[in-house]
Amino acid sequence: MKNVKVLWVIIILLLVLSATLINKFVSGSVEPSEDGRTSVVLTKDERNLVLNEMRAFLVSVQGVSQAITNDDMETVAELAHKAGMVAEEGTPGSLLQKIPLGMKQLGFGTRKKFDEISETASTLKDADLARTQLDALMNNCIACHAIYRLPEPQ
Ligand code: HEC
Repeated sequence: MKNVKVLWVIIILLLVLSATLINKFVSGSVEPSEDGRTSVVLTKDERNLVLNEMRAFLVSVQGVSQAITNDDMETVAELAHKAGMVAEEGTPGSLLQKIPLGMKQLGFGTRKKFDEISETASTLKDADLARTQLDALMNNCIACHAIYRLPEPQ
């Protein structure tokens, strides 16, 4: 009888622990921001890494757009590939844990859209299609910036 009670205590503790872990994975390390967005709280180095990726995003968007204008679909494919999922390979797991699920989905979604641009640029070589895909991709930039911010660590 006593053993059963101990077992129940262990089961309940495990349930609480997994609920906490799942909750952490979904919500990330966040707090409300005065401007109505959600602040994602990172260390100085993590924040610098993300902002560095952001500036690279802008460079990629400009490069892909320029290549589309030049009807140079080979460069479109190459630049879009570099900005795709391969760019996530070095992202530390500890950083991903702090990023809320919705932001992760928008971030990976953007990477996947770059991969799609690369794939269709090398197969269909259609500049108009690539332009339409890039327009759609940029809605991800806008959506994420509207929801999240990265406050400077105090
Ligand atoms: C998954 C969310 C997300 C996506 C997608 C995203 N960004 Fe960002 N970006 C952020 C956040 C959060 C910041 C910090 C904003 C703040 O603190 O106000 C930021 C900041 C930036 C900055 C400022 C960098 C600096 O050094 O301060 C640039 C430039 C930028 N993003 C460009 C882009 C471009 C271009 C895209 C689309 C190709 C993009 N971002 C997509 C979340 C995102």
